[in-house]
Amino acid sequence: MVSKTTWIVADTHLTRDPEGTLFGVVVRIQAERARSFLEANARKGDSLVLLGDISNDDSQESYRCAESLFGSIVSDIELVPGNHDGQLFETLQFFRPCPRSRPGPNGWQFHFLDSRGDGEEGRLSRRTLSYLGEAIPADTKHNHAIFFHHDCLQPFPAGRIGLVEGGNELVELVLSRSTSRFAIFCAHRHQSFAFGLGNITFHSVGAVSCQFEFDGEIPQLSSPAIEISEVRFLDGHISVHRHRIDQ
Ligand SMILES: [Fe+2]
Ligand SMILES: [Fe+2]
Repeated sequence: MVSKTTWIVADTHLTRDPEGTLFGVVVRIQAERARSFLEANARKGDSLVLLGDISNDDSQESYRCAESLFGSIVSDIELVPGNHDGQLFETLQFFRPCPRSRPGPNGWQFHFLDSRGDGEEGRLSRRTLSYLGEAIPADTKHNHAIFFHHDCLQPFPAGRIGLVEGGNELVELVLSRSTSRFAIFCAHRHQSFAFGLGNITFHSVGAVSCQFEFDGEIPQLSSPAIEISEVRFLDGHISVHRHRIDQ
C-alpha cells in the first residue's frame, strides 16, 4: 500500500506586520519558503499539521496569511494551537476544537490536543487527559499518534519553559497501553530531536520561523534555517524525515 505522508509545520510565528521578525529573521519570508517547499513536495492525499504558534500576535492578519500560504496545498489540514495562538485562532478556516481524534493511515489513530496553559507554560488539562484515556482504551487495537504544541520531555540541556504539566500522566497512560505503539509529536522548542522509550517515540519538530538554542531558559537564535517534518505512518512503525532548508 502506498502510504500517505503527513507534513508537520510548526512555529511560523506570523505577525500582522510584514516586516515582523523573530531574532532578526523575517517570519513571513520563512513561511513563504515553507510553502514553496510543500508545493514542490506534497502530493494529493497528503495531510498537513500546523503544530502551534501559527501566529505570533493572534492577529486576524496573521491567520489570514497562514491560510493563504498553507490553505490550498493539501485539502486535509489539522490545526493545533500553541501558546502564541489566542482567541482569533478559532477564526481559522480549518479550525476544529481540540481534543479530537480521527483515523490516520495504516491503522494509526491520530489525536490532536490543546496544551495551552498560562502564558508560555503548557498544560494537559484533566479534561484532555481523561478524553485521551477514553480515546485510547486499554484494549486498543490501533497504534496512536498524539500531537500537541508544548514539550513533553526535554533533552539535556533542558531549561526551555514549556515542559507540559500533565505530561507525566500522559506518559503513564501510553506506557500502560503496552500492546500499541505511540508517536508523540511536539514543537515549541524550535529544536528537533527524537528518541524512543518502550512503546513510545517522542519527536520534537523544528520550527519554520527559526531554530533556537538555550542559555539556561532563555532562547537564542541558533539558525535561520527552516525545518519541516515529513512523516509516514506505516504498518506498526513510522518513518520521519526532517527537511532542514538553509538560506
Ligand atoms: Fe514558538
Ligand atoms: Fe510555543
